[in-house]
Amino acid sequence: MKSYLDNGATTIVDPAVVKAMIPFFSDIYGNPSSVHNVGQEAKRYLDESREVIAKKIRSSFDEIIFTSGGTESDNLAIIGFAGANKDKGKHIITTNIEHPAVTNSCDALKKEGFDISKVGVDKVGFVDIEKLEGLIRDDTILVSVIHGNNEIGTIQDISVIGDVCRKHGVTFHTDAVQSFTKVPIDVKNIPVDMISFSSHKIHGPKGIGALYIRKGIKISPTSHGGGHEFNKRAGTENIPGIIGFARAIKLASHSHCKNMSDLRDYFISKVFEEISDVKLNGPKGDSRLCNNVNISFANIEAESLGAYLDVNGICTSSGSACSSHSLQPSHVLIAIGIDKELANGTLRFTLSRFTTKEEIDYTVDVLKKHANKLRKISPLKRVLKNVF
Ligand SMILES: Cc1ncc(COP(=O)(O)O)c(C=O)c1O
Repeated sequence: MKSYLDNGATTIVDPAVVKAMIPFFSDIYGNPSSVHNVGQEAKRYLDESREVIAKKIRSSFDEIIFTSGGTESDNLAIIGFAGANKDKGKHIITTNIEHPAVTNSCDALKKEGFDISKVGVDKVGFVDIEKLEGLIRDDTILVSVIHGNNEIGTIQDISVIGDVCRKHGVTFHTDAVQSFTKVPIDVKNIPVDMISFSSHKIHGPKGIGALYIRKGIKISPTSHGGGHEFNKRAGTENIPGIIGFARAIKLASHSHCKNMSDLRDYFISKVFEEISDVKLNGPKGDSRLCNNVNISFANIEAESLGAYLDVNGICTSSGSACSSHSLQPSHVLIAIGIDKELANGTLRFTLSRFTTKEEIDYTVDVLKKHANKLRKISPLKRVLKNVF
């Protein structure tokens, strides 16, 4: 049996998405910037797809910029915004649980003379909003806070954070790569100015994403070329990718999320029933991403447990995919107060709408067997109260 539980890293492309994309390789292959018929036909589909994302978050059509994915969207939001607004100030606030696409964009700005403040989180990963407000200064231009955390699934209250930013006249960016289509976002009601999206986390193709930029927010392009994407992101649009992304958005439904959260909670309770000395990281219930489970196993090296699972056809992650080759403990787990030893015994399991109960039962069986085996040979004998 196989069980792919690394959907936070990437998802299978829905067969309906693949089908929708195929004509755009060989039939409707025009460049949407070309004025002739073939180009203009592609342009119509580009516009339709842009409208799909705009509708999903209730933005205007021209507030959506297509990018190559979540990483580029985060870079464009942070570096592009900083470039266009540095005359107003050089202070940016972010958190200590961001994805590297945000953290490293901020680090790049630090080298350019920007000052970066990082606000901490509580023990399940919620940003301390009072502290965040306290960090805002006259020269603060931008706040960037991840919406749904990629490691521990915490969903921040971006409405309240946005209100604080509005109150102080500071622009607010959120990385919604993991939460998009799982948590509704309505830019008419939520005071957020820029939002990053990625297609391959929602059963769309890789290499395509988008950035919402509220009207009136100025950004400097980070790549230079033609006037594509309202002069904000140069380069011929990836039409097959954009078509696939739009199709994936249309296929996503609220009922998928309900099924995933039921399965997520079933998985967590089974692990707690079957395996001792475990800890769930991140919040419970509705403020957790519907597909995220993150568990620390005392006295176990997650790398070894993950390898045993892999041999048995189960894919998980012992950190976010981008950092899982590093031996450093996860900065997100450290931020919520998990010690290094326990952080190194932690696995992330991320479900999709295709995950079945049989896969979860199989995963718990394999986990139990190998956790017990590894604990028998471990010199560590730590006792953890099963906290759920
Ligand atoms: C929260 C978050 N932001 C950004 C990214 C980067 O997205 P992409 O892989 O589309 O570049 C990821 C990918 O894991 C992510 O989880």
